[in-house]
Amino acid sequence: MFTIKQLLSHIENHRCYSHPVFYNWGKVNPDVATLGALFQQIQLFCSSTRPGGNYLEAMKEHGLVKENHLQRAIVESEENHGSELATMAGHVINKKAKQTILADVYDQELVENKLKEYSNQLLGNLPGYNKDTALALQTQKSIAVLSRRQARDYETTIKNIGTTLALEKISNRQLIPGEKHCLVDCNLYDLDINDPEMHYMLEHFGEIGAEQEHEKYAIEMVKSVLNEKTAPLIIEGMDDFLNALLCLWDLLDSALLQSGYHQVA
Ligand SMILES: [Fe+2]
Ligand SMILES: [Fe+2]
Repeated sequence: MFTIKQLLSHIENHRCYSHPVFYNWGKVNPDVATLGALFQQIQLFCSSTRPGGNYLEAMKEHGLVKENHLQRAIVESEENHGSELATMAGHVINKKAKQTILADVYDQELVENKLKEYSNQLLGNLPGYNKDTALALQTQKSIAVLSRRQARDYETTIKNIGTTLALEKISNRQLIPGEKHCLVDCNLYDLDINDPEMHYMLEHFGEIGAEQEHEKYAIEMVKSVLNEKTAPLIIEGMDDFLNALLCLWDLLDSALLQSGYHQVA
């Protein structure tokens, strides 16, 4: 029988959890087009993690009332995060370019179209890359794990709870601290976390950040459904997410950041 502690260490021991992609970003100091391609893949992956889809209703249908409340609180707190992430990406790109590439960083469509353009330019020839959506195969696969929230059956609902745990733990411990490291702490972009355009970061990072709370809620959810029968499904949901995201981080690291090559040389 698995305990919640074992499930949490399972995530902590996965290579995705300590992936150096954001540290290599900080070392390599990527150019404007590379920043655009990185943000394009990260932004689209992140946007797939926000909607609850049929998963919220499915939880209720299967009598998972407490779990539904916790998951709903997470989903509701994600409102506007897509546009705020676009603003932060546009701001970072303007700062890196030291000129206005994006005239209005609050215009989400303008920023997203530019990110797509950069991504197609740099990653467009990769096998499986979709030029219409500007998504690498690895990003598509990560998004596919989250799109299982459209299913309503019991087994997938439990798997989705496992995916939520892995997602929120990664967001709180690897993704957001990683972004804060390369975007703010490395001082590559002459910006301040208190800049209004950086609101996304301020909202997500640290003790009072959204992700801290999401992780707590996700742990509560898993604790409340964990038993001998659900454990394999929870682990499957966690692993599908962690393995898919690991492939995405590996791709961004090798194709765009040379796996820290600049620092080693
Ligand atoms: Fe968010
Ligand atoms: Fe989250």
